[in-house]
Amino acid sequence: MLNGIIHAHSGLRWVVLILLTAATFMALLKWRSNAPYTEGGRKLNLFTMISMHVQLLLGLALFFMSDKVNFSQMKDAMYRFFSVEHTTMMLIAIALVTIGYVKSKKASEEAKKHKLIFIFYGIALLLILVAIPWPFRGWGNGWF
Ligand code: HEM
Repeated sequence: MLNGIIHAHSGLRWVVLILLTAATFMALLKWRSNAPYTEGGRKLNLFTMISMHVQLLLGLALFFMSDKVNFSQMKDAMYRFFSVEHTTMMLIAIALVTIGYVKSKKASEEAKKHKLIFIFYGIALLLILVAIPWPFRGWGNGWF
């Protein structure tokens, strides 16, 4: 069960990264070229947010099940990373994407919609890239 959730959480990172990168770059291009905010663009932003909410649910399950979350081992970089750093940064990133989506939906000007998505999704993307436990960190995490 735990293994299955870890694999799902690990694989879904690529869906999140691909959608978030696409949404951020499309928003930048459309903002700079004054393009309209289309239904297709809105759906890309929506599916990006949904993929992150699924990741949040899997992450919450892992937070309570994984032995890498251990608050009595805070001197150890790996335990500190999973217990505090990964969790906090990912929660902030998910909140940013959610706020960005809602704000852009409420904005009246098309250029403002693109700008909000670019800023909120872009900052979330940077945070996620930093907070992923990439295999080269040496804690035994895989690429998929
Ligand atoms: C977009 C958001 C997130 C991404 C892209 C992400 C990505 C990852 C990746 C790639 C791993 C390593 C999996 C492996 O071992 O191969 C991982 C592990 C983990 N994540 Fe996340 N995560 C996200 C959000 C969260 C959140 C919000 C939480 C907690 C509330 C969380 C808790 C954990 C825990 C506890 C582990 C360690 C699991 C273990 O190896 O036992 N994650 N995450």
